[in-house]
Amino acid sequence: MNKGTFSIFIFSLLSLVVLLSACSKVEQAGSEIHKVEDQPSQLTRQRILLSDNWRFYKYADNQVTDSLIYDVRPEIESDEDGKAADAKPTEAVDIVSEAFVLKPWILPTANPFIDDPAQQHQRPEGNPGADFAFVQGDFDDSQWQQVQVPHDWAISGPFYVGHNAPVGGGMGRLPSPGVGWYRQHFELTAADAEKSIFLDIDGAMSYAMVWLNGHLVGGWPYGYASFRLDLTPYIKLGEANQLAIRIDNPPASSRWYPGGGLYRNVWLTKTNPVHVGQWGTAISSSDISEKSAKVSLSVTIDNDSAQTIEVSTQTNIYALDMDDVVAKSASATIATDAILIDGGQSSRVDGSVVINNPKLWGPLPNQQPNRYVAVTNILQAGKVIDSYETRFGIRELHFDANKGLIVNGEHIYFQGVNQHHDLGALGAAFNVRAAQRQLELLREMGVNAIRLAHNPPAVELLELTDKMGFVVIDEIFDVWERKKTPLDFHLIFPEWAEPDLRAFIRRDRNSPSVVMWSIGNEVGEQYTGADGAKLAQRLQNIAKQEDTSRPTAASMNFAKPDMPLSAVFDTVSLNYQGEGIRNAPAYAHLQGIRTAPLYPAFHQAFPNKVIMSSENAAAVSSRGEYLFPVNDGVSAPVADGAGGDPESLQVSAYELYTAPFGSSADKVLASLAQHPYVSGGFIWSGWDYLGEPTPYYLARSSYFGVIDLAGFKKDRFYLYQSMWRPDFPMAHILPHWNWPERIGKITPVHVFTSGDEAELFLNGRSLGRKQKAEFAARLRWDDVVYEPGELKVQAYKLGKPWAENKVVTTGAATALAFTPDRAEINADGVDLSFVTVKVVDKDGLMVPRAKHQLSFSLQGPGEIVATDNGDSANLVAFPSHQRAAFNGLALVIIKAKKGEPGNISLSVEAEGLEAAHVSITSK
Ligand code: GAL
Repeated sequence: MNKGTFSIFIFSLLSLVVLLSACSKVEQAGSEIHKVEDQPSQLTRQRILLSDNWRFYKYADNQVTDSLIYDVRPEIESDEDGKAADAKPTEAVDIVSEAFVLKPWILPTANPFIDDPAQQHQRPEGNPGADFAFVQGDFDDSQWQQVQVPHDWAISGPFYVGHNAPVGGGMGRLPSPGVGWYRQHFELTAADAEKSIFLDIDGAMSYAMVWLNGHLVGGWPYGYASFRLDLTPYIKLGEANQLAIRIDNPPASSRWYPGGGLYRNVWLTKTNPVHVGQWGTAISSSDISEKSAKVSLSVTIDNDSAQTIEVSTQTNIYALDMDDVVAKSASATIATDAILIDGGQSSRVDGSVVINNPKLWGPLPNQQPNRYVAVTNILQAGKVIDSYETRFGIRELHFDANKGLIVNGEHIYFQGVNQHHDLGALGAAFNVRAAQRQLELLREMGVNAIRLAHNPPAVELLELTDKMGFVVIDEIFDVWERKKTPLDFHLIFPEWAEPDLRAFIRRDRNSPSVVMWSIGNEVGEQYTGADGAKLAQRLQNIAKQEDTSRPTAASMNFAKPDMPLSAVFDTVSLNYQGEGIRNAPAYAHLQGIRTAPLYPAFHQAFPNKVIMSSENAAAVSSRGEYLFPVNDGVSAPVADGAGGDPESLQVSAYELYTAPFGSSADKVLASLAQHPYVSGGFIWSGWDYLGEPTPYYLARSSYFGVIDLAGFKKDRFYLYQSMWRPDFPMAHILPHWNWPERIGKITPVHVFTSGDEAELFLNGRSLGRKQKAEFAARLRWDDVVYEPGELKVQAYKLGKPWAENKVVTTGAATALAFTPDRAEINADGVDLSFVTVKVVDKDGLMVPRAKHQLSFSLQGPGEIVATDNGDSANLVAFPSHQRAAFNGLALVIIKAKKGEPGNISLSVEAEGLEAAHVSITSK
């Protein structure tokens, strides 16, 4: 053996030793990943979900609460419920007040996210609220409501009814405003003596302020933000630690339903004093090919102890499969050199590694959303003192001004939707299965991209989009300094814009599905020229300091190519302006923003920037409601008697009607197709959501969704599916064919198909074969004279039969039928089954206009959490076990009891109909 070979031998031996020791750590770390989150390993860090046994109290009267306020607020001078969504935002109102406020004690919570030390906040002396009963350990809260967190204090209702209600249609007619308190206690033992103890709140709506054992710890006002509080200075060992959280949700603070309370997860995190900081890892990848990829990692280490310590890190990277199972052996390891960190300080270490044959993350359907988990171990004197997991994906993002998004070389055209955060009848309280169901239905429609309008989502939602292979525009603000509603985010923008923006990016930066940061939506600063652009530039700079790997956006419904704000962000993000606003003939009489289609002008002004349609359509409809006459154009603003019925508060499902500034799906898709350099777009909106019931503000929930609030598909679903899944053979006919009062009357029939041609038959007679015109999304037979019977469509593609569909006149309703989306669920007190109820005739066909009163009952170890029917105007509270069917359908949501497996039997009855029963197994 010559010298060279010998040193290679020694080197290999050393690597083997390193590898073996890594493997033993690997196992340790790997097994930790499998542990249930609330029974974590005792080794290095614990993350305990605080879900059960919260006590909750909300003041009955929003005017009579306590005086522990974050800040004074301006008077609400006018709160126009139903103000057009594209109305011009207005200036903040000045307030002068001498009132004592807690803001100075809360602001220091933001310090880790404020770059300039001079701008950081000093906590004042004193401990406000120390004497207040609710924060005391011996306060008797046994009369308070016992709740499980995530908890939305408003979703049970009741709905406020009528004009001038305390909460109008805009915010969903539910009692979200007000002041509430949550109490919880936990024990710490002597083993926790040297630990750092944190409270991690994933979202509290809103103005959360937290006391532990009578000490005001801190808080965070923005209701969509996730934040951490250091409880360590206030903990007690060997006895109960009393948490008290005050939440104050202002009225007139949102353009949609915000929810209220601790509506996302809350965690207690215990670490050694030296640990990976909050969201302390940042992972990116570069030089990506099929053969290899470079993965770069930076780790922020906090030393909460008083001593200087010497530590190094070792990060093992494992492949993760679809079920989150971690590979047995690491794909690569990144080790960093030892560093010294002084007591009370933080340090960052960086490293990188090349992974061979990486499994890339890419969106479905053509790629696979492969993920990895990095397990970062902090080592002190050879001992692992912290072990922290980061899930990520390796993927190459590229943006091309003439195409748009390119992921790993594949052009991903945005077939996107906007989604608000609520989960329909479950409200804002986050539930993984409910969110997954939303995404599953969107995927079936052909959606590949989600814009999270207009606020940070629950972390678990991004885990779903990562895992399910969607791309995401992660958005943070709907307003900056100028306001859209009297008490919205503009009140806290001056102090919180920077910390909120930094926290948002640090939290979500490792998520492979996130491809872009959106920093604002239709903000008022579009109207303030150079001042608005200056503010935009400040936010842009912050975003770039946090992450350079993704482009930024701020959606513009008013700014034009020559206005200063348009130039600030990396992409051109247009709401409605691309296809033109109020520009089709049917909109000529309307007041408000009016533009020609602006894609060409923006493309010319910014030839190097990606253009996208961040919001389009704002089309409206009620599932299964068809109103006559039918507009003979391709897009029209909804109006009473023209697509809308002010009595029933319903909007026609012919899918031609829109908000005053909107355009039908047909018009939007045609416009996108004619501007192929546009990167695609995002429909307003994928699902219906609570609040913003344009055009009928006496209702509770929107009409914009392609899918209704209960999760039932509107006809528009098939329009998009036909365009976005051209290889999926399908045809869909509208309307239904139960029109006894229309015999002999003209009843237009429209068809959506992924074919290029179709022939329509009424009772076997051909009504003609038609070809789809260039850029058209539908085939229409507008002069069909109604007669009962069977409507059938035969679609063709390239001359060959492609798909069929038929609609028949049904018999009278005779029975009810159940279809659960899952017949087996987990007995964990969280998992859900969404059960559809159909009103059917003797042949089992859904009776399309049935509105029977249904009554639900359940036996066994489960509960009916909520019922709904997708009718925006239905004001029966969601927990009700009585609900009318809406156009043949209703939904009941079942949850299994925690730890009580068994058979849950669900029944539904209605007068004159045969009842239905179904059994759901809880395991
Ligand atoms: C847009 C706005 C959305 C929603 C939509 C429909 O202008 O950005 O949040 O309001 O209109 O009304």
